[in-house]
Amino acid sequence: MDWGLQNRLSQIIKPQNNRALMLAVDHGYFLGPTEKLENPKKVIAPLLKYCDSLMLTRGVQRTSVPTSTNVPMVLRVSGGSSIIGEDLSQEEITVSIKDAIRLNASALAMSIFVGSKYEHQTIVNLGKLVNEAEEYGIPVLAVTAVGKELGKDARYLSLACRIAAEQGAHIVKTYYCDNFEKVVQSCPVPIIVAGGKKIYERDALQLTYDAIKGGAVGVDMGRNIWQSENPVAMIRSVRYIVHGNATVDQAFKLYQTLRNEKPQQNKPQQNKPQQNKPQQNKPQQNKPLENKK
Ligand code: R5P
Repeated sequence: MDWGLQNRLSQIIKPQNNRALMLAVDHGYFLGPTEKLENPKKVIAPLLKYCDSLMLTRGVQRTSVPTSTNVPMVLRVSGGSSIIGEDLSQEEITVSIKDAIRLNASALAMSIFVGSKYEHQTIVNLGKLVNEAEEYGIPVLAVTAVGKELGKDARYLSLACRIAAEQGAHIVKTYYCDNFEKVVQSCPVPIIVAGGKKIYERDALQLTYDAIKGGAVGVDMGRNIWQSENPVAMIRSVRYIVHGNATVDQAFKLYQTLRNEKPQQNKPQQNKPQQNKPQQNKPQQNKPLENKK
């Protein structure tokens, strides 16, 4: 694998523990103003420092992410359909490799719709995208999208993941399912798990834990973070599992603690007389290891 490609991959899947926490905010590309993601800039701002990478479209990147960030971008480059359109699987590549490079993308993401009407088109597009991206050392993440009529079971997801990997995808995103190990074992590239529809916070933490235990490198989570009653508490708790090896109980306990914390406010500075106390080395308290960035 070329140095550039390997380097970009290691920005997304952290080499120290082979884990990844990707924050997904690309939903608007076919869903429009998704609930609680109506204003991506406001959603992204407090969460950015807790994710390893951000999955998004170029429109959201240019309008809603500060250029000063050093969080790697996983750029969605496929689209062309909408939730009210005829067929969600009718996607094409909509972003040029030049624009992806201008945006300093660390990886490109596109969906394949195995078993759907436009299966052929999306799989061929994946192959073509890998051809182009490899020329510039940019990894490709294939999203195994599931049509309404298809079940998210291990048999179907193994098929979709394996096809994506055979076309040269460097990472595959899929759903967690029963017998998830089977999906991981038959896919020769790293698998990252999508969060899916909003569920109870503890269940989403359980999903994160199970996915990693089943062999996923991590999660690419959207709705279960920013649709949570406390998105910052939630992403920190997910992070605690992904990078802190926390159990579900530990992570949920952290969520409950953080959920009740008041958001920090910028208090006006008070004119207290300065006390020049010498700094003392306080002994470290036994706080849970949350692995903040
Ligand atoms: C679909 O719109 C995208 O590929 C999402 O990035 C993906 O489904 C992950 O988001 P969520 O955790 O909300 O399912």
